Amino acid sequence: MARRKKIYEGKAKTLYEGPEPGTLVQYFKDDATAFNAEKRATIEGKGVLNNRLSEFFMTGLSQIGVPNHFLKRLNMREQLIRAVEIVPLEVIVRNYAAGTMAKRLGMEEGTVLPRPLVEFSYKNDDLGDPLVPEEYIIGFGWASQQDLDDMIALALRVNDFMSGVMYGVGIKLIDFKIEIGRHYEGDFQRLIVADEISPDSCRLWDIETGRKLDKDVFRRDLGDLADAYTEVARRLGVMPQNNPQPGKPQLIN
Ligand code: CDP
Repeated sequence: MARRKKIYEGKAKTLYEGPEPGTLVQYFKDDATAFNAEKRATIEGKGVLNNRLSEFFMTGLSQIGVPNHFLKRLNMREQLIRAVEIVPLEVIVRNYAAGTMAKRLGMEEGTVLPRPLVEFSYKNDDLGDPLVPEEYIIGFGWASQQDLDDMIALALRVNDFMSGVMYGVGIKLIDFKIEIGRHYEGDFQRLIVADEISPDSCRLWDIETGRKLDKDVFRRDLGDLADAYTEVARRLGVMPQNNPQPGKPQLIN
C-alpha cells in the first residue's frame, strides 16, 4: 500500500491525508511539550489515551448536537476526522482561576470565577500564543463578529458538557482550550469543534483531593502523566479492557 501523505506535523499529533476527500487521519503521538516546547518528553501511552479520550468527548458532543470534526476511531492511535480550516485562535474557557490567568491577575489558583470566562489567544508559537482582545480578532480579520459569537456559544456548550461529565466522575473542570475550524459543505460554511479534547488541553482536579489529572503533572513535575490520564480514562469507563481487575469482586448495580 502506498504511504499516506503527511499533511501536517504538530507537537502532539500528525495529520495525514484521509481515505476520501474532505477527511483526514489524525495520529496521536506520545510526545509531550510545555512552555512553548521548551520542555519535552515522550510519555509512553499518552497518544493512545488521548485518542480514546478525545473520541469519548467528541462523540458525547455530537450526541448533544455540538458539531465537531470527529468521524470515527480507526485504531489505537488514529481517528478519522473532517478536514477543516483551523481558525488561528485558541479558545480558552475558565471556570476557576489557574495558570496564566492566576499569574496575570495575582489570583490564587482554584478561585471560583463569577461565571465561565471565554478568552482568545492568537495561535502563533513564535509569539507564545498571546492573549488577544476581540477587537484585534475582528480588526485583523481572523474572524467576523458573527464567527466570534458562534465560537463563544460553541465554547460555552463544550464547557457545560465537559463540566457535567467531569463532575459525574468526581473531577472539577478548571479550564480548557479548544480549537475551532471552518467546515465547508458546498457553498455553506459552519464552525465546528476541531483538534482534540483531552487532558493535554484541560485542567482537571480531583474534587476530593485536589490531585491534578492533566498536563500540569508534566509541566510542574508532579508525577507520572500517563498515570493521571489513565485515571481520567478509568473513571470515564474509557478503555475498560485495559483495566481488568482480576480476582476482585465487581459491584453490579
Ligand atoms: O497552560 P498555561 O498556564 O500556559 O496557559 P493558560 O492560559 O492558563 O491555559 C488555559 C487552559 O488552556 C489550560 O487548560 C491549558 O492546558 C490549555 N492550553 C492549551 O491546551 N494549549 C495552549 N497552547 C495554551 C493553553
